[in-house]
Amino acid sequence: MSFNVENIRNQFPILSQEIDGNPLVYLDSAATTQKPQTVIDAIVSYYTESNSNVHRGAHYLADKATRLYEGARDTIASFINAASREEVIWTSGTTESINIVANGLAHQLVASDEIIVTEMEHHANLVTWQQACKKSGATLKVAPMNDKGELDLVAFEALLNSNTKLVAMPQVSNALGTINPLDRLIPLAKSVDALVLIDGAQGIAHGNVDVQTLGCDFYIFSGHKLFGPTGIGVLWGKKSLLETWPVWLVGGEMISEVTYQDATWGVLPNRLEAGTPNMAGAIGLGAAIEWFMALDQDAVLEYEKELIRYATERAEAFDGLTIVGQAENKVGVLSFNLDGHHPADVGFLLDKQGIAVRTGDHCAQPLMNRLGVPGTARASFSVYTTRADIDALFNGLEKVKSMLG
Ligand code: ALA
Repeated sequence: MSFNVENIRNQFPILSQEIDGNPLVYLDSAATTQKPQTVIDAIVSYYTESNSNVHRGAHYLADKATRLYEGARDTIASFINAASREEVIWTSGTTESINIVANGLAHQLVASDEIIVTEMEHHANLVTWQQACKKSGATLKVAPMNDKGELDLVAFEALLNSNTKLVAMPQVSNALGTINPLDRLIPLAKSVDALVLIDGAQGIAHGNVDVQTLGCDFYIFSGHKLFGPTGIGVLWGKKSLLETWPVWLVGGEMISEVTYQDATWGVLPNRLEAGTPNMAGAIGLGAAIEWFMALDQDAVLEYEKELIRYATERAEAFDGLTIVGQAENKVGVLSFNLDGHHPADVGFLLDKQGIAVRTGDHCAQPLMNRLGVPGTARASFSVYTTRADIDALFNGLEKVKSMLG
């Protein structure tokens, strides 16, 4: 198989539009990826031909919707190599998934426990654990990184001890693009028997994820960063953990027996999925994964590596630009600042030229403080990004510089 970016772009209808007379240059895929036509079609087709409430009805459409919805779960299970489909829990996204794990752990946490996160956390994987520690009296420890945005493995190892209950860390930093060496970090955490949660929000679209090979206990991601719809995400967790944990949401679908006085809970995955689920979202995400898997995965990784190499080369040659996050191993994320200018102004003036980047703290205020910057402008790439998009970014930045003086 080969990789042809023009063929890929043609499958994303949104990319062919103009913004204020300028061709759209979409460089905000770390915030959300665009959707290929096949995903849009899957959602439209679900509502036009299959819509019904899953698991409940005694009729043709209910059965059809259930098969599509549960089929999407099978797609996810195979995509991440889950040991069983019961380990794949639908959620609304990464944030909810992390909160469900925190709820499950809450009854076990005691004051002597320690939880380790990293300096590069997104707020979702920081605030959740801050709250868990406040409630239980457990201690939150923060694994440091160097100024390039790479975790310090020696310091990480020194934080681990027999009290370490959980290590929660990102596969990839959303703000810096750093790819963390999970193949080294997870075994270290496991050497003290800690549970390991991987926030895969930014990693899932940039590499082959095999949860069994990784050796973590929880792997979490959102559908919308993987060419799927918003409002759907995944919590993968080891069955032995999920099936014994307290339920987080109670109501229809997740029960076994109910009397006026009491109730017992059903089995996985339903015990963690109360209420009518996001059926169209799950089916759309299943379609997105099938679309993504049909691409040559090695070629995708190679292509993205070349994009970030090229963007970094252009950035280094750009007078007055500072790259924020210079890890050796990065996905297609270029965070930067223009000397003397606020990132919000840079983003605003790029937008006037049809160039979409994200600016601000990227939901990582402590990380920005650690790096001593108010925020950054962030250009983030995906399989549909071209070298021409990167050229447009730097041409746009030249204009921004001359406008801002
Ligand atoms: N977490 C998303 C980002 O990094 C929204 O932009």
